[in-house]
Amino acid sequence: MTDHTETRHTRVVVLLGSLRTDSYNRRIAERLQAEAPPDVTVELATGLDNLPFYNEELDGDGVPATARDLRAHVASADRVLAVTPEYNGTMPAVLNNAIDWLSRPYGVGALKGKPFAVVGATPTRSGGRWSHEDARRSATVAGADVVPDLLLSHSTLDADVFDDPDVFGRFLAALVALVEHQPVVDLAA
Ligand SMILES: Cc1cc2nc3c(=O)[nH]c(=O)nc-3n(C[C@H](O)[C@H](O)[C@H](O)COP(=O)(O)O)c2cc1C
Repeated sequence: MTDHTETRHTRVVVLLGSLRTDSYNRRIAERLQAEAPPDVTVELATGLDNLPFYNEELDGDGVPATARDLRAHVASADRVLAVTPEYNGTMPAVLNNAIDWLSRPYGVGALKGKPFAVVGATPTRSGGRWSHEDARRSATVAGADVVPDLLLSHSTLDADVFDDPDVFGRFLAALVALVEHQPVVDLAA
């Protein structure tokens, strides 16, 4: 993994896997934004709902503005964080589509070499584990530097852990330092 520890101010761009206004995962992203340490900025990528489905015929010189802007935003970030629920045992299409756009041009896409982590919650017991695994695998194929074992998954937002005032700050500190963070829930247990 590339050493990015020399970066002073860290910009984290969030890819949100839910379009719902009342989304639990949006709340996680907003908590991360609100509780970011002073040297960390958390920015939500916008326009994912207006991205066309990836189509090689749309890519190239006439790439849609939404895709061009997303690529520029992610390319400028120090870290990329997917905050996502699970749909039908995998990541929602909105996140998958964003990763597809960010994976191209092949070999030099915006995710190439970018430290990438995944967090999220679902109201089910799994906490979105398959979604997170799939997002990590796709990001890896797209050339991202997927941060190992950096987990923040939970099966309910009513649990104490989301009332823990430190958990989001600790997660971000781990993401910035690219060190292992204790899983909030050991889903393998
Ligand atoms: C189409 C669809 C498929 C879903 N599939 C799963 C699933 O496979 N696993 C799971 O844990 N939850 C599943 N859910 C429940 C979501 O985790 C739940 O709706 C969650 O609140 C969505 O995240 P959000 O609150 O951030 O929008 C599914 C929901 C929808 C709408």
